[in-house]
Amino acid sequence: MTKPSKKYEGDPNTTGHVWDGIEEFDNPMPRWWLWTFYICIIWGIGYVIAYPAWPMINGATTGLLGWSTRGNVAAEIAAVDEANAPMNAKLEAAELDGIAGDAELGPYAVSSGSAVFKTWCAQCHGSGAAGAKGYPNLLDDDWLWGGSMEDIHITVSHGIRNEDSDEARYSEMPAFGRDEMLEDSEIDEVVNFVMSLSGEAQDASKVAAGAVVFEDNCSSCHAEDGTGDIYQGAPNLADAIWLYGGDYATLTDTVSNSRYGVMPAWNTRLSEAQIRAVSAYVHQLGGGE
Ligand code: HEC
Ligand code: HEC
Repeated sequence: MTKPSKKYEGDPNTTGHVWDGIEEFDNPMPRWWLWTFYICIIWGIGYVIAYPAWPMINGATTGLLGWSTRGNVAAEIAAVDEANAPMNAKLEAAELDGIAGDAELGPYAVSSGSAVFKTWCAQCHGSGAAGAKGYPNLLDDDWLWGGSMEDIHITVSHGIRNEDSDEARYSEMPAFGRDEMLEDSEIDEVVNFVMSLSGEAQDASKVAAGAVVFEDNCSSCHAEDGTGDIYQGAPNLADAIWLYGGDYATLTDTVSNSRYGVMPAWNTRLSEAQIRAVSAYVHQLGGGE
């Protein structure tokens, strides 16, 4: 430790630290720097009191102003809802069939319906509505339960084969194999007949016998010519569009074990305006009747 020293007259004091003969001056901090530093400390204390700051086990201290990003989002949503309220009221009051043709309501319904679709429907029907195995394609004009605006509105409001709504679309295809209603040989025949409706049977010699099995067991729901029945949600089997698959193995599985496609009811989760909007969106995708 060397004594603080001044090398030259007018030099400030040194701290006494010396490294290889280099000494450290003991200059005071510049005023402006010190003040900025103190202001930052005061600002920091104020911030911690006013805003959410300290992490706790569950969440963080909330701050006196009650500010939160969640609150911001809620306020923004409320503002948008308020701005849309008059249009939504009109949408709820409109005739279902009149929505598409209305110059103002039509485009509004389709664009807000598209947002509803992406949030609530895309996980099952695909973001482009092209569907997947067991989840119908909504782009084509092949409808299980009907493609008019009114049909779509009912389907979406109440859903299909669910427990949520007493008015859900309902029907049940028997499990012909599992419940021993048909012999394996009869299932083999009827599957060949179903395949022949839209192209090639796997074994053409079985088609005639399959037609008889179909007439007796299937035509009450799928119609005699296999074109289906929207009142029972029974798919058209003659158009080569398959919900579950049209190959021999999948058809055998469908006929043996049946299918039970379920869609939730939406009238408990979405507003009437949202349901009408998403129905209008689905209706204009290409296959609306
Ligand atoms: C959990 C999966 C799921 C979600 C989510 C879902 N759906 Fe479905 N949807 C289905 C299934 C499964 C079917 C077919 C049921 C059947 O076999 O009859 C279906 C059928 C439909 C049909 C009938 C198609 C026809 O050919 O008649 C429409 C229309 C429809 N959905 C619209 C929607 C809309 C709009 C939404 C969003 C609000 C939605 N779905 C959300 C599973 C879902
Ligand atoms: C009580 C009415 C009913 C009867 C009888 C019935 N079906 Fe069905 N079938 C349906 C319904 C409803 C569906 C749709 C099930 C679903 O989507 O969950 C269906 C679906 C199918 C499918 C699936 C189609 C696809 O696109 O993947 C095939 C294949 C089929 N039925 C064949 C038959 C055959 C063959 C028979 C007679 C042996 C038969 N069905 C009898 C109501 C019936």
